[in-house]
Amino acid sequence: MLVATGLTKHFPVGGVGVRKVVHAVDGVDLELRRGSVLAVVGESGSGKSTVARLLAQLLPLTAGQVLLDGHDARVRGRKAFRRYVKRVQMIFQDPFGSLNPVHTVRYILTRSVRIHRGRLRGAELEAALTELLERVHLTPAERYVDSYPHELSGGQRQRVAIARALAADPEVLLADEPISMLDVSIRLGILNLLQDLRDRLGIAILYITHDIASARYFADRTTVLYAGRVMETGDSESVTQDPKHPYTRLLVASAPDPDDLGGTVGGLTAGEVRESGIGGEPPSLIDPPPGCRFHPRCPFAVDLCRREVPDLFDVGAGRTAACWAYSDRGDRPVIGQRTTGVRADEEAAP
Ligand SMILES: Nc1ncnc2c1ncn2[C@@H]1O[C@H](COP(=O)(O)OP(=O)(O)O)[C@@H](O)[C@H]1O
Ligand SMILES: [Mg+2]
Repeated sequence: MLVATGLTKHFPVGGVGVRKVVHAVDGVDLELRRGSVLAVVGESGSGKSTVARLLAQLLPLTAGQVLLDGHDARVRGRKAFRRYVKRVQMIFQDPFGSLNPVHTVRYILTRSVRIHRGRLRGAELEAALTELLERVHLTPAERYVDSYPHELSGGQRQRVAIARALAADPEVLLADEPISMLDVSIRLGILNLLQDLRDRLGIAILYITHDIASARYFADRTTVLYAGRVMETGDSESVTQDPKHPYTRLLVASAPDPDDLGGTVGGLTAGEVRESGIGGEPPSLIDPPPGCRFHPRCPFAVDLCRREVPDLFDVGAGRTAACWAYSDRGDRPVIGQRTTGVRADEEAAP
């Protein structure tokens, strides 16, 4: 449905005469399929929101291309943008900030219905509002339709935001950390709702998250992002149960629910990750590390990793990993089991 190739965004930063750029997103490929959820997983600052904003046409691309149903999605002018937004809707992290507090649910949904479906009135409009609220399981609809956002819980607000998006009858939903600001107890309900929309309406969903455990639960496929680059892709079950890239292993091992994810994936328990010191910090994106961007934090990095950017190598079953360990280079690194903080190449040194 929505295909991105070589998605790249560099933000210029600095004052007059300073020519620096933030390499927020670099050469990312993504594919959103009808009736399917793709998770994009990564730490804060890895470029997830920038990817969503590029796909939503809220930012111009530095390089790359976005295709919607096979056609170049680049929009020029307000009319083309409206047509695009009708098909590709976005849901934001903060349901408190994304709903205007001075308007009722009725006003918020009516506005979206009229923008995307024309000037419905009276019984027809009322039926549309009821149907939207029922779709997001805010029933009976009349209990919610005249409420203000502050009278609703966080989960109910996010449901209203989703209903507002559905008023466009979109083919694609871009959900940027839609549950991360909600109470843990209601997160599952929102994910179940999105799953239901995927199944019943055949919507293609981009699910952005920093929580790889929720990607396993909710997404059909998962793409792992680090410092603006794709590290690993594959079906969510395999990526989370048998991660190939050292960064994915780190994410999985330090996930909040180690029991659920097997605990010692890649030979590392969550405790070992903390002790080994490979946790570390994401790199500066103004002057990103050469070679593999993960190499400064990677316990297995060798010279090759510091010099050359790895391709996304085929690691079987429709999976890929951007790690030289999966290449046939003679000077490739070897991913081993490890429990100490010593780097693989330091161990080998005399
Ligand atoms: N408008 C901007 N100008 C400069 N830098 C930006 C801008 N928006 C995002 N960035 C930078 O791009 C990088 C990726 O940001 P973002 O996409 O928000 O990451 P995430 O959503 O994964 O936390 C960060 O280093 C961020 O500071
Ligand atoms: Mg973000």
